[in-house]
Amino acid sequence: RAGSVVVFGSLNVDSTSYVDRFPLPGETLASTGFATALGGKGTNQAVAAHRSGAAVRLVARVGADASGDFALAELARHGLDVASIAAVPDAPTGVAQITVDASGENTIVITAGANAALTPELVVERHDDIAAADLVLTQGEVPAPTIERLAAACARFGTRFVLNLAPPIDVSRGALAECDPLVVNEHEARSVGIAPEGAGSADDWWGAAEAAVGRVARSVVVTLGAEGAVGAAPGVSVACAAPEVDAVDTTGAGDGFTGTLAAFLAGGAELDEAVVAAVAAGGLAVQRRGTTDSYASRDEILQAMEDDA
Ligand code: RIB
Ligand code: NA
Repeated sequence: RAGSVVVFGSLNVDSTSYVDRFPLPGETLASTGFATALGGKGTNQAVAAHRSGAAVRLVARVGADASGDFALAELARHGLDVASIAAVPDAPTGVAQITVDASGENTIVITAGANAALTPELVVERHDDIAAADLVLTQGEVPAPTIERLAAACARFGTRFVLNLAPPIDVSRGALAECDPLVVNEHEARSVGIAPEGAGSADDWWGAAEAAVGRVARSVVVTLGAEGAVGAAPGVSVACAAPEVDAVDTTGAGDGFTGTLAAFLAGGAELDEAVVAAVAAGGLAVQRRGTTDSYASRDEILQAMEDDA
């Protein structure tokens, strides 16, 4: 069954320079390649959820500029419904300046621009969509008051709420408590008081996720990069190692993970199966350049899950 997912999501146009190594402060460096592509954590997650088989509605904001036109055309090319994306007159489309080094690591500087127009009032305007959806997904690139309003709306309408706290921002404990799951990397986990005992092995993080269930959020998923991911919910606990792959570009791999996780959960999967699917999707995404253009199809993900099993 295809689940329905509403993404309240950031949208950026990504300018990515590929380099042998990161520049030092004050240094000018020539790239080995350059790409302009559709990004933003929310948009990436929406595309990944769509590729994973969910029926996705992306609520986003762009500027009335060429980047906004480019973004809408790219979303249409990916087969996403753009009816809930509006252009705001007084701000530019969000921008991300990204540098990717030879090992596939990245640095990212974002300028929110039109993403700031994802206001709490917009959540109220979308109450019908939120009530009808299987799952609502949002991220730390959306203003905190909007995330908090979304959490409250989901609680009111009985809709599953998933928050990827990337980048880590201050949201209320009450909003975190609604998350099912809260999806965080190690750094983001620590920002909300989820910390492993010991040196921080995958096992340590597994324990930390279990201990955070009911204390921080309804359920918790911690992504561990090349180590895979761990997750816990009442009665469910999962640790999934990542496949060994040659990473060419890790940008947006976490978004691929989260979008696939949301799609599987919305379709009725338990947290453990959804985490396994999300780890497989992340492993495929890092082997291709870019974000929205790097996400695997549902069939590729199912095949990778079989291969890794
Ligand atoms: O997570 C990757 C994304 O972060 C990029 O697409 C960029 O737009 C930033 O939002
Ligand atoms: Na990629």
